[in-house]
Amino acid sequence: AHEPLVLGIETSCDETGIGIVRGHTLLADAVASSVEEHARFGGVVPEVASRAHLEAMVPTIERACETAGIALTDVDAISVTSGPGLAGALLVGVAAAKSLAIALEKPLYGINHLAAHVAVDQLEHGPLPDPCLALLVSGGHSSILRVDDVTDTVTPLGATIDDAAGEAFDKVARLLGLPFPGGPHIDRVAREGDSVSIDFPRGLTSKRDLERHRFDFSFSGLKTAVARWVEAKAASGEPVPVADVAAAFQEAVVDVLVRKALDAAATEGIEDILIGGGVAANSRLRYVAEERATKLGIRVRVPRPGLCTDNGAMVAALGAEMVARGRRPSPLDLPADSSMPV
Ligand code: KG4
Ligand code: ZN
Repeated sequence: AHEPLVLGIETSCDETGIGIVRGHTLLADAVASSVEEHARFGGVVPEVASRAHLEAMVPTIERACETAGIALTDVDAISVTSGPGLAGALLVGVAAAKSLAIALEKPLYGINHLAAHVAVDQLEHGPLPDPCLALLVSGGHSSILRVDDVTDTVTPLGATIDDAAGEAFDKVARLLGLPFPGGPHIDRVAREGDSVSIDFPRGLTSKRDLERHRFDFSFSGLKTAVARWVEAKAASGEPVPVADVAAAFQEAVVDVLVRKALDAAATEGIEDILIGGGVAANSRLRYVAEERATKLGIRVRVPRPGLCTDNGAMVAALGAEMVARGRRPSPLDLPADSSMPV
């Protein structure tokens, strides 16, 4: 039997992503980003994102087909992120996917963005072990998930109770005068800094917090602590040691993420951890997770950085998995659901 050729569309935030896969083989991953249009606002502006998706959609689809060396009519199924994400941005992708499905007379699969961040790893490291534990860390989400079947059995074990990890990176970067989105800049600057020079708080790790929030995260207190520290330094007239602050902040985030993911894996008796989402591109997170997990006999899978941030390949990957597992296609009146749970 030939493996399904699936075209995936991602428009939940500021990247217009078109991915094409055959089974677990990635054929094309075209991304058009409006991130530069948002940079001067210090965050993603939904209206600007929607318009950019609209303009980028057709050229990005064309580019992906060209790279994959396929015609649109070759495609066996269309998959699209239908949530969670920015409502107006999601709508552009969902409308495009429906049009393609109708014109090509091919099945349509609505995809959960969070599950897609998990499924994408199959393109790089092969089939996901069942069950596995996923640490999903992006600009909009920070969760620990138990994944028994990425197409329909994903159970949240914990999540952030305030800011997402990526959001914390972006806010702290802004405070330090680094460009948006700040994650990659903190990652780079932190390499020159001393991570133990400042002791920033680890959210929800006290004995009392662990009773109620064992696998949950909190990053807003950390962000405030960094802001206070920087203000105090500036008020004293001394220069702010940007690299040290970045390194110490990053260490606080990474420490809690890895600690809780490993604790969850041990508690669930799971030996495979997958890290996904934009923050999974963080070099320190990748290093610390690998180092600590190895000591416990736990395997860590992290997709290459280009597959961690939002892209169409992840949506195509999960679409292909839906086809392979015989999941029912979505109806053609598939709604976009901006607050879709995992
Ligand atoms: O998954 P993603 O591309 O979009 C969402 O679904 O949110 O994640 C974007 C987030 C941003 O907050 C960005 O700053 C962060 O991922 N990010 C990083 C790195 N690369 C991207 N955070 C830390 N270190 C990085 N290297
Ligand atoms: Zn994402």
